[in-house]
Amino acid sequence: MARLISVLLFLFMLQLCSMTVLSLIEAPDSASFVFGDSLVDAGNNNYLQTLSKADIPPNGIDFTASGGQPTGRFTNGRTIADIVGEQLGQPSFALPFLAPNTTGTAILNGVNYASGGGGILNGTGQIFINRIGMEVQVDFFNTTRKQLDEILGESKAKEFLMKKSIFSVTIGSNDFLNNYLFPLISATVRLNQSPESFIDEMINTLKTQLTRLYTLDARKFVVGNVGPLGCIPYQKSINRVSPNECVTLANQLAMQYNTQLRTMLADLNKNLPGARFLLANVYDLVLELITNYNSYGFSTASVACCGNGGQYAGIIPCGPTSSMCDDRSAHVFWDPYHPSEAANLVIAKYLVNGSTKYISPINLLQLKAL
Ligand SMILES: *[C@@H]1O[C@H](CO)[C@@H](O)[C@H](O)[C@H]1NC(C)=O
Ligand SMILES: *[C@@H]1O[C@H](CO)[C@@H](O)[C@H](O)[C@H]1NC(C)=O
Ligand SMILES: *[C@@H]1O[C@H](CO)[C@@H](O)[C@H](O)[C@H]1NC(C)=O
Ligand SMILES: *[C@@H]1O[C@H](CO)[C@@H](O)[C@H](O)[C@H]1NC(C)=O
Repeated sequence: MARLISVLLFLFMLQLCSMTVLSLIEAPDSASFVFGDSLVDAGNNNYLQTLSKADIPPNGIDFTASGGQPTGRFTNGRTIADIVGEQLGQPSFALPFLAPNTTGTAILNGVNYASGGGGILNGTGQIFINRIGMEVQVDFFNTTRKQLDEILGESKAKEFLMKKSIFSVTIGSNDFLNNYLFPLISATVRLNQSPESFIDEMINTLKTQLTRLYTLDARKFVVGNVGPLGCIPYQKSINRVSPNECVTLANQLAMQYNTQLRTMLADLNKNLPGARFLLANVYDLVLELITNYNSYGFSTASVACCGNGGQYAGIIPCGPTSSMCDDRSAHVFWDPYHPSEAANLVIAKYLVNGSTKYISPINLLQLKAL
């Protein structure tokens, strides 16, 4: 009996001890939890068997932290999420959720759940075989949520998430490109579902996903709208439009979705107490870069720097055998789908400290200060 008591006492003290140690861990002042698709994937797809991968050169050629080696990012350097994190004072990039070393205190800088090919709808991106859709990304955050409780203790974890953490969501393009508009799938989908009904389904699903994040203590959100899909080298190449033209249907769908997204976010701002949802107007930002590319120092807004096929190098994705442009900072588009780091830098700058035309109702610096 005495022995049992002393064992129990020992266990109790061990517990006290570990609680004291744990409570000494301080959360950093700024963290980002990143959800989305290949625009912000920081390497999750490296750990999936998927056709949507960027862990091959010359992707990452300008990513300083890896010495120019590919990291899984679908661009030549940093993504918009990387740059925004830096500018908001995050000590290091949010690590990919699926990376083996994303454990312990490493998650205090935030975590990246984004996955190339992923969409709002579960069925999006099937052609890639594997990708993590938004639904599962939220499930993954639920796992992180529990780890944060363990590391920081419940009250600090809650405070960290509600006050110091920014939740960014960049998703929706694949629901159009690799679902509704994808040549092999879209014929049947489009026969059965009008654009209105497809977009309604996207908006309702995303609303539920954002609300789930809110129930897990996310409060400061920034949600990107869908860019001008009809202007990316891939769409311009397969539809053979002229350099100054974009593909109408793709842009119309994006705009239709964006209008509804704005309303939905306003709704959430009204109905979820304490939450701030910012709309990042990626559509108008990218269109601004494309229209006035010269004034931002770009030499082309239609030809991909890395890619092959068609008039805009927009048919075959970027890889070791692709042709690559000489001046990577002179191209708005790195590859058939994704902006270059130079373009990402301009976009991030507007989101961090721009006016309500591009980030509303407040910008990210103001959101962080709340
Ligand atoms: C985790 O591994 C990745 C890839 O090997 C590396 O870039 C990153 O710096 C590592 N992070 C930590 C916290 O060790
Ligand atoms: C999407 O997939 C997730 C995970 O497999 C599942 O929990 C969810 O119910 C699915 N949602 C829909 C609308 O099918
Ligand atoms: C998070 O996971 C727990 C189970 O561990 C579950 O009860 C809860 O509903 C999940 N929350 C969300 C928002 O998915
Ligand atoms: C943000 O922009 C305002 C003016 O638009 C400027 O005065 C301020 O210095 C900027 N802040 C940062 C941190 O860049």
